[in-house]
Amino acid sequence: MAEWTVADIPSQSGRLAVVTGANSGIGWHTALELARAGGEVILAARTQQKGQDAVERIHRQIPEAKVRFEILDLASLKSVRAFAAKVNREARLDLLVNNAGVMRLPKRQVTEDGFEVQFGTNFLGPFALTNLLLPAMLRAESARVTTVSSGAANMGSKRINFEDMQGEKGYGPWKAYCQSKLADLMLMTELGRRSVAAGYSLLSNAAHPGFARTNLQTTGPGREMNAAERWMASFMSQDAAHGALPTLRAATDVNAAMGSYYAPNGSFQLKGEPVLVPLPKPARDEAAARKLWEISEELTGVQRPLKDSN
Ligand SMILES: NC(=O)c1ccc[n+]([C@@H]2O[C@H](COP(=O)([O-])OP(=O)(O)OC[C@H]3O[C@@H](n4cnc5c(N)ncnc54)[C@H](OP(=O)(O)O)[C@@H]3O)[C@@H](O)[C@H]2O)c1
Repeated sequence: MAEWTVADIPSQSGRLAVVTGANSGIGWHTALELARAGGEVILAARTQQKGQDAVERIHRQIPEAKVRFEILDLASLKSVRAFAAKVNREARLDLLVNNAGVMRLPKRQVTEDGFEVQFGTNFLGPFALTNLLLPAMLRAESARVTTVSSGAANMGSKRINFEDMQGEKGYGPWKAYCQSKLADLMLMTELGRRSVAAGYSLLSNAAHPGFARTNLQTTGPGREMNAAERWMASFMSQDAAHGALPTLRAATDVNAAMGSYYAPNGSFQLKGEPVLVPLPKPARDEAAARKLWEISEELTGVQRPLKDSN
Protein backbone atom coordinates (compact mmCIF):
# COMPACT_ATOMS: atom_id res chain seq x y z
CA MET A 1 0.00 0.00 0.00
CA ALA A 2 1.26 3.51 -0.87
CA GLU A 3 2.63 5.48 2.03
CA TRP A 4 0.45 8.23 3.50
CA THR A 5 1.81 11.75 3.13
CA VAL A 6 0.55 15.29 3.66
CA ALA A 7 -0.63 15.17 0.02
CA ASP A 8 -3.31 12.74 1.25
CA ILE A 9 -4.87 15.27 3.61
CA PRO A 10 -8.35 15.93 2.25
CA SER A 11 -9.41 19.54 1.79
CA GLN A 12 -10.01 21.16 5.16
CA SER A 13 -11.78 24.08 3.59
CA GLY A 14 -14.72 25.20 5.69
CA ARG A 15 -13.46 23.32 8.73
CA LEU A 16 -12.27 24.87 11.99
CA ALA A 17 -9.56 23.17 14.05
CA VAL A 18 -7.96 23.82 17.42
CA VAL A 19 -4.41 22.52 17.89
CA THR A 20 -2.95 22.74 21.38
CA GLY A 21 0.79 23.22 21.83
CA ALA A 22 0.78 24.60 18.29
CA ASN A 23 3.77 26.91 18.70
CA SER A 24 6.32 24.12 18.62
CA GLY A 25 7.27 20.69 17.29
CA ILE A 26 4.50 18.35 16.24
CA GLY A 27 1.72 20.78 17.05
CA TRP A 28 3.15 23.49 14.80
CA HIS A 29 3.55 21.10 11.87
CA THR A 30 0.03 19.82 12.45
CA ALA A 31 -1.36 23.36 12.35
CA LEU A 32 0.75 24.20 9.28
CA GLU A 33 -0.53 21.26 7.24
CA LEU A 34 -4.15 21.71 8.30
CA ALA A 35 -3.87 25.32 7.18
CA ARG A 36 -2.18 24.33 3.91
CA ALA A 37 -5.15 22.03 3.26
CA GLY A 38 -7.42 25.08 3.53
CA GLY A 39 -8.58 24.70 7.12
CA GLU A 40 -9.07 27.50 9.59
CA VAL A 41 -6.82 26.82 12.56
CA ILE A 42 -6.71 28.25 16.06
CA LEU A 43 -3.19 27.80 17.37
CA ALA A 44 -3.34 27.42 21.13
CA ALA A 45 -0.16 28.32 22.98
CA ARG A 46 0.65 29.33 26.52
CA THR A 47 2.54 32.52 25.79
CA GLN A 48 1.55 35.46 23.61
CA GLN A 49 4.96 35.81 22.00
CA LYS A 50 5.37 32.15 21.05
CA GLY A 51 1.80 32.00 19.74
CA GLN A 52 2.18 35.06 17.55
CA ASP A 53 5.54 33.87 16.30
CA ALA A 54 4.00 30.49 15.34
CA VAL A 55 1.26 32.24 13.36
CA GLU A 56 3.85 34.39 11.58
CA ARG A 57 5.94 31.35 10.68
CA ILE A 58 2.89 29.76 9.05
CA HIS A 59 2.05 32.97 7.18
CA ARG A 60 5.60 33.13 5.85
CA GLN A 61 5.02 29.75 4.17
CA ILE A 62 1.32 30.20 3.37
CA PRO A 63 0.40 33.89 3.18
CA GLU A 64 -3.31 33.11 2.73
CA ALA A 65 -3.44 30.69 5.72
CA LYS A 66 -6.48 31.17 7.94
CA VAL A 67 -4.65 30.88 11.25
CA ARG A 68 -4.83 32.76 14.49
CA PHE A 69 -3.56 32.41 18.00
CA GLU A 70 -5.36 32.11 21.33
CA ILE A 71 -3.77 31.77 24.72
CA LEU A 72 -4.22 28.44 26.51
CA ASP A 73 -2.34 27.18 29.54
CA LEU A 74 -3.34 23.59 30.17
CA ALA A 75 -1.77 23.78 33.62
CA SER A 76 -4.51 26.23 34.64
CA LEU A 77 -8.19 25.28 34.69
CA LYS A 78 -9.01 28.98 34.69
CA SER A 79 -7.14 29.38 31.41
CA VAL A 80 -8.76 26.24 29.98
CA ARG A 81 -12.22 27.57 30.83
CA ALA A 82 -11.49 31.00 29.34
CA PHE A 83 -10.15 29.45 26.13
CA ALA A 84 -13.13 27.09 25.82
CA ALA A 85 -15.58 29.94 26.39
CA LYS A 86 -14.04 31.84 23.47
CA VAL A 87 -14.05 28.85 21.11
CA ASN A 88 -17.61 27.95 22.08
CA ARG A 89 -18.66 31.29 20.58
CA GLU A 90 -17.63 29.95 17.14
CA ALA A 91 -20.38 28.53 14.90
CA ARG A 92 -18.86 25.09 15.37
CA LEU A 93 -15.57 23.30 15.98
CA ASP A 94 -14.75 20.44 13.61
CA LEU A 95 -11.45 19.22 15.03
CA LEU A 96 -9.65 19.34 18.34
CA VAL A 97 -6.06 18.10 18.41
CA ASN A 98 -4.98 17.49 21.99
CA ASN A 99 -1.27 17.74 21.32
CA ALA A 100 0.41 19.88 24.01
CA GLY A 101 2.55 18.11 26.55
CA VAL A 102 5.57 18.10 28.80
CA MET A 103 7.89 15.24 29.64
CA ARG A 104 10.08 14.10 32.50
CA LEU A 105 10.15 17.04 34.89
CA PRO A 106 12.98 15.99 37.23
CA LYS A 107 11.23 17.08 40.42
CA ARG A 108 7.56 16.87 41.31
CA GLN A 109 5.88 20.20 40.59
CA VAL A 110 2.25 21.20 40.75
CA THR A 111 -0.01 23.26 38.52
CA GLU A 112 -1.87 26.29 39.83
CA ASP A 113 -4.76 23.91 40.66
CA GLY A 114 -2.40 21.67 42.66
CA PHE A 115 -2.12 18.83 40.13
CA GLU A 116 1.20 17.11 39.47
CA VAL A 117 2.40 18.97 36.35
CA GLN A 118 2.70 16.08 33.88
CA PHE A 119 -0.68 14.63 34.90
CA GLY A 120 -2.24 18.09 34.91
CA THR A 121 -0.80 19.34 31.60
CA ASN A 122 -0.83 16.14 29.57
CA PHE A 123 -4.13 14.74 30.81
CA LEU A 124 -6.36 16.70 33.20
CA GLY A 125 -6.11 19.93 31.19
CA PRO A 126 -6.97 18.16 27.92
CA PHE A 127 -9.74 16.23 29.71
CA ALA A 128 -11.33 19.48 30.86
CA LEU A 129 -10.74 21.19 27.53
CA THR A 130 -12.30 18.35 25.53
CA ASN A 131 -15.42 18.28 27.68
CA LEU A 132 -15.74 22.05 27.76
CA LEU A 133 -15.47 22.27 23.96
CA LEU A 134 -18.25 19.73 23.37
CA PRO A 135 -20.93 22.38 22.77
CA ALA A 136 -19.01 23.77 19.76
CA MET A 137 -18.04 20.30 18.53
CA LEU A 138 -21.60 19.01 18.72
CA ARG A 139 -22.67 21.86 16.42
CA ALA A 140 -20.35 20.45 13.72
CA GLU A 141 -21.68 17.89 11.29
CA SER A 142 -19.11 15.34 12.41
CA ALA A 143 -16.44 16.53 14.80
CA ARG A 144 -13.23 14.74 15.66
CA VAL A 145 -10.96 14.73 18.70
CA THR A 146 -7.45 13.46 18.05
CA THR A 147 -5.36 12.98 21.15
CA VAL A 148 -1.58 12.72 20.95
CA SER A 149 -0.23 9.98 23.17
CA SER A 150 3.18 8.29 23.17
CA GLY A 151 4.85 4.90 22.98
CA ALA A 152 5.47 5.63 26.67
CA ALA A 153 1.80 4.80 27.29
CA ASN A 154 2.90 1.17 27.09
CA MET A 155 5.95 1.61 29.33
CA GLY A 156 6.52 2.33 33.01
CA SER A 157 4.01 0.67 35.29
CA LYS A 158 1.48 0.27 32.42
CA ARG A 159 -1.42 1.17 34.67
CA ILE A 160 -3.11 4.13 36.29
CA ASN A 161 -1.89 4.16 39.86
CA PHE A 162 -5.22 5.05 41.45
CA GLU A 163 -3.61 4.81 44.91
CA ASP A 164 -1.12 7.60 44.13
CA MET A 165 -2.18 9.05 40.80
CA GLN A 166 -0.28 12.30 41.24
CA GLY A 167 2.95 10.98 42.70
CA GLU A 168 2.44 12.43 46.17
CA LYS A 169 3.87 9.31 47.85
CA GLY A 170 6.45 8.52 45.20
CA TYR A 171 7.28 10.63 42.15
CA GLY A 172 9.28 9.44 39.19
CA PRO A 173 9.76 11.74 36.14
CA TRP A 174 9.42 8.94 33.60
CA LYS A 175 6.75 7.03 35.57
CA ALA A 176 4.60 10.17 35.71
CA TYR A 177 5.02 10.80 31.98
CA CYS A 178 4.13 7.21 31.04
CA GLN A 179 1.01 7.30 33.21
CA SER A 180 -0.10 10.65 31.74
CA LYS A 181 0.19 9.31 28.20
CA LEU A 182 -1.69 6.13 29.11
CA ALA A 183 -4.36 8.38 30.63
CA ASP A 184 -4.52 10.21 27.27
CA LEU A 185 -5.38 6.96 25.51
CA MET A 186 -8.04 6.24 28.11
CA LEU A 187 -9.46 9.73 27.58
CA MET A 188 -9.63 8.86 23.89
CA THR A 189 -11.38 5.49 24.37
CA GLU A 190 -13.78 6.65 27.09
CA LEU A 191 -14.72 9.77 25.11
CA GLY A 192 -15.54 7.50 22.17
CA ARG A 193 -17.56 5.11 24.31
CA ARG A 194 -19.57 7.93 25.87
CA SER A 195 -20.13 9.66 22.54
CA VAL A 196 -21.51 6.48 20.99
CA ALA A 197 -23.75 5.94 24.02
CA ALA A 198 -25.04 9.50 23.74
CA GLY A 199 -25.61 9.15 19.98
CA TYR A 200 -23.20 11.98 19.16
CA SER A 201 -21.56 12.40 15.79
CA LEU A 202 -18.10 12.71 17.28
CA LEU A 203 -15.08 10.59 16.44
CA SER A 204 -12.37 10.11 19.04
CA ASN A 205 -9.02 8.66 18.02
CA ALA A 206 -5.32 9.00 18.81
CA ALA A 207 -1.80 9.05 17.45
CA HIS A 208 1.77 8.97 18.63
CA PRO A 209 4.74 10.45 16.80
CA GLY A 210 7.38 7.85 17.61
CA PHE A 211 10.61 9.62 18.52
CA ALA A 212 10.62 13.09 16.96
CA ARG A 213 13.25 15.78 17.39
CA THR A 214 11.33 18.58 19.11
CA ASN A 215 11.67 20.65 22.27
CA LEU A 216 10.07 17.86 24.31
CA GLN A 217 13.35 16.18 25.21
CA THR A 218 14.78 19.39 26.69
CA THR A 219 11.87 21.54 27.99
CA GLY A 220 10.73 19.22 30.81
CA PRO A 221 14.14 18.05 32.02
CA GLY A 222 15.37 21.66 31.68
CA ARG A 223 18.66 20.64 30.11
CA GLU A 224 20.15 19.81 26.73
CA MET A 225 20.44 16.15 25.77
CA ASN A 226 23.68 14.52 26.87
CA ALA A 227 26.07 12.86 24.42
CA ALA A 228 24.50 9.40 24.75
CA GLU A 229 20.99 10.80 24.23
CA ARG A 230 22.13 12.76 21.18
CA TRP A 231 23.80 9.68 19.74
CA MET A 232 20.64 7.61 20.20
CA ALA A 233 18.48 10.37 18.74
CA SER A 234 20.70 10.65 15.67
CA PHE A 235 19.59 7.31 14.25
CA MET A 236 16.41 6.46 16.17
CA SER A 237 14.43 9.66 15.60
CA GLN A 238 12.76 11.61 12.82
CA ASP A 239 12.16 15.32 12.33
CA ALA A 240 9.11 17.09 13.71
CA ALA A 241 7.41 17.25 10.30
CA HIS A 242 7.47 13.45 10.06
CA GLY A 243 6.53 13.17 13.71
CA ALA A 244 3.34 15.08 12.92
CA LEU A 245 2.18 12.64 10.23
CA PRO A 246 0.44 10.12 12.53
CA THR A 247 -1.45 13.01 14.15
CA LEU A 248 -2.38 14.47 10.77
CA ARG A 249 -3.56 11.11 9.51
CA ALA A 250 -5.64 10.44 12.63
CA ALA A 251 -7.09 13.95 12.42
CA THR A 252 -7.99 13.96 8.72
CA ASP A 253 -8.15 10.50 7.17
CA VAL A 254 -11.77 9.97 6.13
CA ASN A 255 -11.33 6.24 6.76
CA ALA A 256 -10.16 6.70 10.36
CA ALA A 257 -12.42 4.79 12.72
CA MET A 258 -13.56 5.48 16.25
CA GLY A 259 -10.78 4.43 18.61
CA SER A 260 -8.17 4.16 15.86
CA TYR A 261 -4.53 4.73 16.75
CA TYR A 262 -1.81 5.85 14.31
CA ALA A 263 1.95 5.66 14.71
CA PRO A 264 5.12 5.33 12.61
CA ASN A 265 5.60 1.91 11.03
CA GLY A 266 9.35 1.52 11.70
CA SER A 267 11.07 -0.60 14.36
CA PHE A 268 9.53 -0.05 17.77
CA GLN A 269 7.27 2.56 16.11
CA LEU A 270 10.06 5.13 16.52
CA LYS A 271 9.99 6.51 12.99
CA GLY A 272 8.53 5.81 9.60
CA GLU A 273 5.27 6.16 7.75
CA PRO A 274 2.03 6.77 9.64
CA VAL A 275 -0.04 3.58 9.88
CA LEU A 276 -2.82 2.15 11.97
CA VAL A 277 -1.43 0.32 15.02
CA PRO A 278 -3.14 -1.70 17.75
CA LEU A 279 -4.03 0.08 20.94
CA PRO A 280 -1.63 -1.14 23.66
CA LYS A 281 -3.19 -3.56 26.12
CA PRO A 282 -3.13 -1.25 29.18
CA ALA A 283 -5.22 1.28 27.23
CA ARG A 284 -7.91 -1.33 26.60
CA ASP A 285 -8.85 -1.56 30.28
CA GLU A 286 -12.40 -0.16 30.09
CA ALA A 287 -13.03 -0.28 33.83
CA ALA A 288 -9.90 1.77 34.51
CA ALA A 289 -10.84 4.26 31.79
CA ARG A 290 -14.31 4.73 33.28
CA LYS A 291 -12.90 5.17 36.77
CA LEU A 292 -10.28 7.64 35.54
CA TRP A 293 -12.99 9.66 33.77
CA GLU A 294 -15.10 9.87 36.92
CA ILE A 295 -12.14 10.90 39.08
CA SER A 296 -11.14 13.49 36.48
CA GLU A 297 -14.63 15.01 36.56
CA GLU A 298 -14.27 15.44 40.29
CA LEU A 299 -10.72 16.79 40.13
CA THR A 300 -11.45 19.32 37.39
CA GLY A 301 -15.01 20.13 38.42
CA VAL A 302 -15.99 20.06 34.78
CA GLN A 303 -19.71 19.73 34.12
CA ARG A 304 -20.86 16.44 32.75
CA PRO A 305 -22.13 16.79 29.21
CA LEU A 306 -21.16 13.17 28.55
CA LYS A 307 -22.78 11.01 31.18
CA ASP A 308 -22.00 7.33 31.52
CA SER A 309 -24.96 5.45 30.13
CA ASN A 310 -24.12 2.23 32.01
N1 LIG B 1 8.77 14.34 20.36
C1 LIG B 1 8.59 13.07 20.63
O1 LIG B 1 9.46 12.23 20.38
C2 LIG B 1 7.30 12.61 21.24
C3 LIG B 1 7.15 11.25 21.50
C4 LIG B 1 5.95 10.80 22.02
C5 LIG B 1 4.92 11.68 22.27
N2 LIG B 1 5.09 12.99 22.04
C6 LIG B 1 3.98 13.90 22.33
O2 LIG B 1 3.80 14.84 21.29
C7 LIG B 1 3.19 16.01 21.82
C8 LIG B 1 3.87 17.25 21.28
O3 LIG B 1 5.18 17.31 21.78
P1 LIG B 1 6.44 17.78 20.91
O4 LIG B 1 7.30 16.62 20.75
O5 LIG B 1 5.99 18.52 19.73
O6 LIG B 1 7.17 18.73 21.98
P2 LIG B 1 7.36 20.32 22.05
O7 LIG B 1 8.06 20.79 20.84
O8 LIG B 1 7.99 20.56 23.38
O9 LIG B 1 5.88 20.86 22.03
C9 LIG B 1 5.05 20.76 23.16
C10 LIG B 1 4.04 21.86 23.09
O10 LIG B 1 3.19 21.78 24.25
C11 LIG B 1 3.14 23.06 24.83
N3 LIG B 1 2.85 23.06 26.26
C12 LIG B 1 3.59 22.58 27.27
N4 LIG B 1 3.00 22.83 28.46
C13 LIG B 1 1.85 23.50 28.18
C14 LIG B 1 0.83 24.06 28.95
N5 LIG B 1 0.85 24.03 30.29
N6 LIG B 1 -0.21 24.67 28.34
C15 LIG B 1 -0.26 24.75 27.00
N7 LIG B 1 0.70 24.26 26.18
C16 LIG B 1 1.74 23.64 26.78
C17 LIG B 1 4.52 23.65 24.56
O11 LIG B 1 4.50 25.06 24.79
P3 LIG B 1 5.89 25.83 25.17
O12 LIG B 1 6.61 26.03 23.89
O13 LIG B 1 5.39 27.10 25.78
O14 LIG B 1 6.65 24.96 26.13
C18 LIG B 1 4.67 23.25 23.12
O15 LIG B 1 3.95 24.10 22.29
C19 LIG B 1 3.22 15.87 23.34
O16 LIG B 1 1.95 15.48 23.80
C20 LIG B 1 4.21 14.74 23.57
O17 LIG B 1 3.93 14.02 24.75
C21 LIG B 1 6.25 13.50 21.51
